[in-house]
Amino acid sequence: MINIALPKGRLGEKAYAMLEAAGYECNSIKEQNRKLIFENPEKGVRYFWVKPSDVVIYVERGAADIGIAGKDIILEYSPDIYELEDLGIGKCRMAVAAKKDFCDRRDRTLRVATKFPNIARSFYSKQSREIDIIKLNGSIEIAPILGLSDVIVDIVETGKTLYENDLEPKQDIVDISAILVANKVSYKFKNAEINAICEGIRKNITK
Ligand code: PRP
Repeated sequence: MINIALPKGRLGEKAYAMLEAAGYECNSIKEQNRKLIFENPEKGVRYFWVKPSDVVIYVERGAADIGIAGKDIILEYSPDIYELEDLGIGKCRMAVAAKKDFCDRRDRTLRVATKFPNIARSFYSKQSREIDIIKLNGSIEIAPILGLSDVIVDIVETGKTLYENDLEPKQDIVDISAILVANKVSYKFKNAEINAICEGIRKNITK
């Protein structure tokens, strides 16, 4: 049985559709209920829905053999896992954003609100920029509006959230998409099964 961690939400549904198209369907997953684990013994797959940022934890520790994780989460947590395939879905970018009239003063410590402190720290340390990280867990866009931070480091997909909150992107940091990841031990001992899944998915990837 291959254990597969799917990120709850729209991205996970898209990722499941790719696995289904590759021949790894599990019809019970489509039932409207609050179950979190679904399996199809005939196909040898067990799926479970987890919080998107937890996928890499399940995979790193071997509770899941493979999973679908955003590149943002991989960069933030640097888990000891394999990245097998860029699925070409969940495309967005990590960017610095601020109020339209924000004027950076390099002689001052920059206050950065973010859910991604490691990504932000690494980005600014390459520029030898002194920053003060304000770690938040969501609705990051509010921080500069209320004066909690000077800038934010966050995901931008359509740019609508920034626009509607009178913020604008200032610098792009990195492109993000969903990655098929694998536990290192599973990849060794369940290699044929995992490669078969990769092969099946690869046909439906549009980059
Ligand atoms: C993410 C991100 C932005 C928004 C960007 O938030 O943090 O707020 O999506 O999307 P857009 O560019 O298409 O507007 P998410 O929905 O994950 O909620 P959060 O506030 O909990 O981070």
